[in-house]
Amino acid sequence: MKALVLAGGKGTRLRPLTHTSAKQLVPVANKPVLYYGLESIAEAGITEVGVIVGDSAPEIRAAVGDGSAFGLDVTYLPQEAPLGLAHAVLIARDWLGDEDFVMFLGDNFVLGGITPLVEDFRAERPDARILLTRVPDPSAFGVVETDGRGRVLALEEKPRAPRTDLALVGIYLFTPAVHAAVRAIRPSARGELEITDAIQWLVDSGHDVRSTRITGYWKDTGNVADILEVNRSVLDRTAHRVEGFVDAGSELVGPVVLEPGARVIGSRVVGPAAIAAGAVVTRSQVGPYSSIARGVHIADSEIADSIVLEGARIDGVRRVEGSMIGREAVVTPAPAAPAAHRLVIGDHSTVEIRS
Ligand code: TTP
Repeated sequence: MKALVLAGGKGTRLRPLTHTSAKQLVPVANKPVLYYGLESIAEAGITEVGVIVGDSAPEIRAAVGDGSAFGLDVTYLPQEAPLGLAHAVLIARDWLGDEDFVMFLGDNFVLGGITPLVEDFRAERPDARILLTRVPDPSAFGVVETDGRGRVLALEEKPRAPRTDLALVGIYLFTPAVHAAVRAIRPSARGELEITDAIQWLVDSGHDVRSTRITGYWKDTGNVADILEVNRSVLDRTAHRVEGFVDAGSELVGPVVLEPGARVIGSRVVGPAAIAAGAVVTRSQVGPYSSIARGVHIADSEIADSIVLEGARIDGVRRVEGSMIGREAVVTPAPAAPAAHRLVIGDHSTVEIRS
């Protein structure tokens, strides 16, 4: 069995971060979200992995390499444009050959891995198996109707009037039967080859498509709120590990990961929190639920429930909350009651200011 990991796409919902970086590499507890997926594939005993890449290919390649760090053998499969999830299967045809495969969306996060799912699929081997989860807002997802025994009857991509609250999770198990399906379908109104249409084609042509209800935590990290939620849930499961420097005037409360070379001076860090190598926190309060990447400097500030990316600087700001701060970004206070705001903001940024 092989794995097909989708790490192309546009990432429009994560702009401006995705102007300069692949969305699959956004760090959660200081580790790219894609790594969690690759680790769960390796854990399931799959070693041959095809990674679909688009414009951000160089960055994905630099982060994943030949896969050996994960115990995987990675082949890169360039997609000329993000033409849909089923298009990714179409272009991976030769590499996939006639093997069964798990398709994993590179920005999806599932707690507890995929090993039981892969084992069940190997044992039962229906033509395809999809994973479902109940969601409060099904119209934002691929929505699925099943019979009482989990057999799939109908699928619809982002329906206006959803018939169930069962959404497709971004992990799919396929036999080679899917190849005829992705060849048979036509692009949708949004111009993409939809995987929901391919699966519907399998159902309509009499194939055995089954579903499994995922009971554990799953999240599509498509937007900032979702990434912060995944960050909280990963941090909630981290054990206290302090390998960096903490001076006598500082206090660590609850589970804190302080990597070697990180420094906490005259500060209070409230776990769960993760502070990466080379980050320096001075006269500040960090956490709970904050991931501070390598080389970040935080001084005279307060930050909670946030992700700060590599090399950013936060100086003299009380207080930052529910935020994502990009690489090398600088956040400083304005003079009291400024007559005007002085801003340097990247394309597609979101900034909230009091005025
Ligand atoms: P999506 O989140 O559906 O699409 P997107 O990345 O274009 O994001 P947005 O909606 O914010 O513009 O994609 C799910 C995953 O699949 C993600 O990791 C990107 C990847 N993908 C591809 O590799 N090729 C594609 O053609 C598409 C549509 C997505």
